Amino acid sequence: MQFEDTVTDFNLIRRPRRLRGSEHIRSMVRETHLHRDDLIMPIFVAHGTNIHREIPSMPGIYQFSLDQIDRELEALADAGVFRIILFGIPAEKDAVGSDTFDDQGIIQQAVRHIRAQDDRFYVITDVCFCEYTSHGHCGVVCADGTLDNDATLKNLQKQALSHARAGADMLAPSGMIDGMIGAMRTALDDAGGHEVPIMSYAVKYASAFYGPFRDAVESSPDFGDRKRYQMDPANAREARVEARLDVAEGADMLMVKPALSYLDIIGDIRRNFELPLACYNVSGEYALVKAAAARGWVDEVGVAHEKLLSMKRAGADLILTYFARDIAPHLDS
Ligand code: PBG
Repeated sequence: MQFEDTVTDFNLIRRPRRLRGSEHIRSMVRETHLHRDDLIMPIFVAHGTNIHREIPSMPGIYQFSLDQIDRELEALADAGVFRIILFGIPAEKDAVGSDTFDDQGIIQQAVRHIRAQDDRFYVITDVCFCEYTSHGHCGVVCADGTLDNDATLKNLQKQALSHARAGADMLAPSGMIDGMIGAMRTALDDAGGHEVPIMSYAVKYASAFYGPFRDAVESSPDFGDRKRYQMDPANAREARVEARLDVAEGADMLMVKPALSYLDIIGDIRRNFELPLACYNVSGEYALVKAAAARGWVDEVGVAHEKLLSMKRAGADLILTYFARDIAPHLDS
């Protein structure tokens, strides 16, 4: 059969492009917004003085000693980012990570310093042990090399109380220890800390995307891996089990981590739980963008913005991200 060269008239009723004709109309119909207030910036604080050390696998992210940290606080304030989460690099590591529950520990000193320096900051502390233990695991290790869950809970209670005493605004336990939220909530409440909220790293996967972070805090496990406590990346239903337990134990906010390879999980937790939901755009996700942008292969701001937007679209209310400081000036205030 021959196709004759003729065109016909047609009348399109629906033309979705009408709503894309100018930035005015696009912004009127935009469904998802990314604001500075959605972002939480991780900060690495190190023992010692005069430390301002860029992390090789995380360009633009530094370890700071307390005498150097003010410049980062100023940069964040200029960018309009006032929510931060602290990670510590202690002077010395030991078998139980005792720096974590020492009132003179690095995090405790950092919290006091930042609060005295600029009270506009909302200071969240990561509550875990892996940066502070000589073996790099997230708690007390038994003779056979496995994690002693319940002994770890007791130290977690001590750590939570010490962070709260130092003035932390919110605590974020990241160890995937069974019962961690209940143990911390009970300890805080018994000590009069009813008002201190807990953001649980409720759904945390054993991810290869944490590599650069482990360089940053020198926390790679000496032996084994974290698969006995962090979740299997193949599991989705299990995320609800973890979230449900943390809600029952008193978590105030939930988190999914990592973010980008887990947008389905963010969406699922959003639809099934009412609590505010955060996600962690982790170090490896940051490093991939930085590496490609450094070669001119992608536009850094464009790619970072699109990724962060995808996390909000999936259902996250808040995003912990190393991009916070640098992307904020490009966002709505
Ligand atoms: C544990 C913790 C980790 C991260 C945040 N808290 C590392 C881990 O579980 O090995 C990773 C964050 C990132 O990769 O950016 N304290």
